[in-house]
Amino acid sequence: MSASDILSLELVLLAALLPAADSAEATQEHIQFHVIQISSFANHSWAQHQGSGWLGDVQTHGWDSESGTIIFLHSWSKGNFSDEELIDLELLFRVYFIGLTRETEEYASQLHFGYPFEVQMTAGCELHSSDIAKVFLEAAYEGSDFLSFQNMSWVPAPEGDSRAQSACDLINQYEGIKEIVHKLLTNTCPRFALGLFDASKVDYKRQVRPEAWLSTGPSPGPGRLLLVCHVSGFYPKPVWVMWMRGEQEQQGTQQGDVLPHADGTWYLRVTLDVEAEEAAGLSCRVRHSSLGNQDIILYWGHHLSLYLILLAVIVPLMLLIVLALWFKKRCSYQDIP
Ligand SMILES: *[C@@H]1O[C@H](CO)[C@@H](O)[C@H](O)[C@H]1NC(C)=O
Ligand SMILES: *[C@@H]1O[C@H](CO)[C@@H](O)[C@H](O)[C@H]1NC(C)=O
Ligand SMILES: *[C@@H]1O[C@H](CO)[C@@H](O)[C@H](O)[C@H]1NC(C)=O
Repeated sequence: MSASDILSLELVLLAALLPAADSAEATQEHIQFHVIQISSFANHSWAQHQGSGWLGDVQTHGWDSESGTIIFLHSWSKGNFSDEELIDLELLFRVYFIGLTRETEEYASQLHFGYPFEVQMTAGCELHSSDIAKVFLEAAYEGSDFLSFQNMSWVPAPEGDSRAQSACDLINQYEGIKEIVHKLLTNTCPRFALGLFDASKVDYKRQVRPEAWLSTGPSPGPGRLLLVCHVSGFYPKPVWVMWMRGEQEQQGTQQGDVLPHADGTWYLRVTLDVEAEEAAGLSCRVRHSSLGNQDIILYWGHHLSLYLILLAVIVPLMLLIVLALWFKKRCSYQDIP
């Protein structure tokens, strides 16, 4: 192992052990907030809108289209905005969705939009150490780039056809809308993103301990076992999970994707394909910032003996019950003369 290998190994370990500090610092230079809208138009009288808000890759907001209200997904999702300002924004989005539905239905045939169709939109801002680095608003029609908002006007996407040009010509007539969009992107978004980022730090400090358990997966072949180590409900995301024999890491260890739970914690599945007779003595080791230095270690053998213990308790118990019932029946027959 060269010195640089050792250094990079140390960095990896450091990143695994200090995930809270690491992720907070990484995002300090770079903050991004954006909203996503997906609108389905089934026919000229039926449309549905889905909306969500994101700080980097963490979803912070949803949109309840029934009631036309913002769903705040975390305790800190309001950032530092007052309830008044949030109610104003909510009203603005509600009017926007109603207006979009009505205008789209009115102009669909003129713009040659064929039902059913889907419109996707993303808009937001990026900040580098509190300065605006970039604002963006891009819309797609049926999955292809359609138009964007640039410097106070609507511009068709390079791959957009004459429909994109017609749509831009149409909406560029509304100066008031352009001013609102411009203000949302260059003023509201950066202010909100900064306040939200500060408020989210509560979460970066959060530590939730994982639970871990073992099982077998579908057999990879005759005489082989797929050992599965499940690690669930941890926060923050960085985690280290390895199949071990004693202190030796098993090279065949396969990591799944780290998957989200609805409560914001994470789940990971780590597997090892082994000869059935080699399974005994293997263990799954879990290292996570919430555990301090107390790694979770689960032994494969213990997992099996738990079943044996259960079996050893349940089988005699069942026998006893059957015997007891049998005796009771015999006694009651004898009682009847
Ligand atoms: C429009 O689409 C919706 C949803 O698919 C459907 O329930 C409704 O019957 C359609 N209406 C017309 C007039 O086609
Ligand atoms: C944006 O528009 C203004 C006036 O319409 C113009 O002066 C400016 O150069 C434009 N900026 C860019 C980056 O296109
Ligand atoms: C929220 O925080 C940001 C950044 O710290 C600040 O610019 C803004 O004025 C604060 N308050 C509101 C209501 O935007």
